[in-house]
Amino acid sequence: MADINKRRVGVLFGGSGLIGGTIVNYFKQRRPGVAEILAPNSKKVSLRNCADIRAYLMTVKPDFVINGAITNIDSDSQLAFEVNYIGAINIARAAAALKIPYIFFSSAATLPPGKSLMETDQLPLTARMSNYAKSKLMAEKTLKHMHENEGLDYSCLRLSVVYGNHDHKIQGFHRLLFSIADGSMPVLLTKKGVMHSYSNSRKIPYLIHHMLDNREEFGGKTYHFVDRDPVELGELILSIKSYLQLKSPRKIYVPYSVAHTGRKTVGIILRILTKIGLKATLPPELMFLGAFYRTQALSCERLDTSSFVDPMPDENVHSRLPEMIEYYLTRWSHQNLITTFDEKLDFDNSIGNDFKENPQALLESIHLDAASPFEKISCEQGEPGKTGTKD
Ligand SMILES: NC(=O)c1ccc[n+]([C@@H]2O[C@H](COP(=O)([O-])OP(=O)(O)OC[C@H]3O[C@@H](n4cnc5c(N)ncnc54)[C@H](OP(=O)(O)O)[C@@H]3O)[C@@H](O)[C@H]2O)c1
Repeated sequence: MADINKRRVGVLFGGSGLIGGTIVNYFKQRRPGVAEILAPNSKKVSLRNCADIRAYLMTVKPDFVINGAITNIDSDSQLAFEVNYIGAINIARAAAALKIPYIFFSSAATLPPGKSLMETDQLPLTARMSNYAKSKLMAEKTLKHMHENEGLDYSCLRLSVVYGNHDHKIQGFHRLLFSIADGSMPVLLTKKGVMHSYSNSRKIPYLIHHMLDNREEFGGKTYHFVDRDPVELGELILSIKSYLQLKSPRKIYVPYSVAHTGRKTVGIILRILTKIGLKATLPPELMFLGAFYRTQALSCERLDTSSFVDPMPDENVHSRLPEMIEYYLTRWSHQNLITTFDEKLDFDNSIGNDFKENPQALLESIHLDAASPFEKISCEQGEPGKTGTKD
C-alpha cells in the first residue's frame, strides 16, 4: 500500500487532451494536496523522442506516470508506431527503472466485436488492422511482457467511446454530437439494435487515484472502464436530435453497403476538389464506419468486483446529455463552428457584447477597475470577464 498521506509528484503525458485534461483538473480542483501533476506538452517532451522521455523522467523522478497521449487517430503508420507504441514503451522503460507505477490508456479498438467482452479478449495482431488499433494492441502486449519479465508495475485502462467536456479536438462521441448539431447527418449511419459501450471521462481520475493508492490489487492488470449498460447507437442519436429539437437525422437506417459506397464516393470527390485548390476532408471517425454497424459491448465485471467504488453510479451517457449539449453548443458557437443555436443559448454575454460593440468603453472600464497589479487586489475582484468552466 502506498503512503497516501505523502504529497506525490506525478507526470502525465497528454495533459492537454480530453482525458489528460480531466486528470489534471481533478488533482488540481477536487483533490488539491494529494499529488502535484506535471504535464509537459509534446513540444517539451515528445513521445517520438526516446531521449526526451528518458531525460525528463529521470530528472523529475516522479512517484507515478500516466500516459494519456496519442497521435491523431488517422496518423500514418510511422507516427502511430512512434508515439502510440514506442513512446508508450519508452515511458514503461523509465517507469521500470524508477520502480514507479505506470497508468496506460488503451482502447476498445484492440477488441473484436461482440457482447460481454472480457479483459482477456483481444484481436489477433495482423498487418491489416488500423494503425491506431495495431499500435494500441502492441503496447498492451509489450506492457504485459514487461510486467512479467522486467517487473514493470503498470495498470492498463481500456476505454470505449469516451464522453465528457473539454474535447477540444471534436473527436469520437463529440464528432457525432457535432454532426447532429451541425445538421450534417441526414440519416442514421447504423443498424437497428447495434450497441456500444461508453466511458465517462469525468469518472476516470477517481479510478486512477484509487489505483495509485492500491498497487497490490491493481498492479499488472487491465481493466475495462465503461458504463455498466451498453447503449444503442441509433437511439442515442435520436435522443440527441430530440434534445436539440431538430428534424434530422431522419429515423432511416442506411444499410452498411450503401454507407460504405457513399463514403468512398465522397472521398473521391474530395480528392478531386483538392486538385483544384479546395481542401476538405472526411471526419477521421468515418474510417471506423464498420464499427457503427457492429455491436461492441465491454464487460465491466472485473472493475465491479474490485475495491473501486463508482463515485457517480447513476451517471451515464444519457443522463449527461443535457449538460454536455449545453457545454459543447456554447463552445462551438463561440468558436463560430456552428451558428444554428446562437439565439437559443443563454450566454452571459455582457462583456462579449461590449467587446464587439463598444470596445472603447470596455477599455476604459478595464483601466479603471482591473489593470492594477495582482498584489494590490484579489483575482476574483479584478479579473475581467471571468466566466470559469464547469467540469
Ligand atoms: N477519446 C476517446 O474516445 C478514447 C477512446 C478510447 C481510448 N482512448 C485513449 O485515451 C487516451 C487519451 O485520449 P484522448 O481522447 O484524451 O486524446 P486527445 O484528446 O487526442 O489528446 C492527445 C494528447 O496527446 C498529446 N500528444 C500528441 N502527440 C504527442 C507526442 N508526440 N508527444 C507527446 N504528447 C503527444 C497531445 O498533446 P499536445 O497537445 O501537447 O500535442 C494531447 O494532449 C489515449 O490513449 C486514447 O487511445 C480515448
